[in-house]
Amino acid sequence: MNRIPDVIVALDFPDPETAWELVERLPAGTWYKVGLELFTRAGPPVVERLVSEGRNVFLDLKLHDIPNTVAGAVKSASRLGARLLTVHAAGGESMLRAAAHAAAEYADGDSAGDRTDRLRLLAITVLTSLDDAALSAVIGPGASVEETVGRLAGLARESGIDGAVSSVNECRAIKLACGDEFLVVTPGIRLAGQGTQDQMRVATPATARAAGADYLVVGRTITQSADPAEALERVRAALLD
Ligand code: C5P
Repeated sequence: MNRIPDVIVALDFPDPETAWELVERLPAGTWYKVGLELFTRAGPPVVERLVSEGRNVFLDLKLHDIPNTVAGAVKSASRLGARLLTVHAAGGESMLRAAAHAAAEYADGDSAGDRTDRLRLLAITVLTSLDDAALSAVIGPGASVEETVGRLAGLARESGIDGAVSSVNECRAIKLACGDEFLVVTPGIRLAGQGTQDQMRVATPATARAAGADYLVVGRTITQSADPAEALERVRAALLD
């Protein structure tokens, strides 16, 4: 049986106060995803505070720029103490290599540089909001989401990126193509019997684990619950189903 994935709680809030109310209701050691909404509003202090209080941060900034700029942003994220950071695989091989090099260099150069603690990079392949037609409008006629996801995950792997974000449906294929140590982080998680909300495809925690996911990103199931700590426990318990 696959190892038990860690649960990452998505702090999809417009302001740090609301985010903090939730964080304080959850156990220490929990993982949190800080995305564009919260980071653009509240910035690095949110990450620094989470890290200083012993929480693990997945910084979901989906970086996509020239290699030098992305490398600089990766170093800044390392300095903040984030443990996971997203970059767009579509930035190309030299951007991905520059990002991977920056993450490794910072970890090596840091006197406290415990490599198990270093920032690991996750590739974004194709946004799940794109279907074949929308992708074709971006990269050319006849594009296939499935083929592009596989190709970009392979490119990321070859360029030294540590893993990818993917739906549970693609998780197994990515593991088979890129190897078991290539991390896969899967959103779109719902407890059995729960509604899908705006997610097109959802999977239960146990299905994600069976597919080989290393981390599950869970948002509203926990953040909108009357008892978030109990909801987090239910998600963790459901991993053992
Ligand atoms: O509330 P819910 O559990 O659907 O939130 C899922 C989180 O995962 C959100 O932060 C969302 O942005 C993120 N995500 C996603 N689907 C993707 C990529 C990221 O739902 N393909």
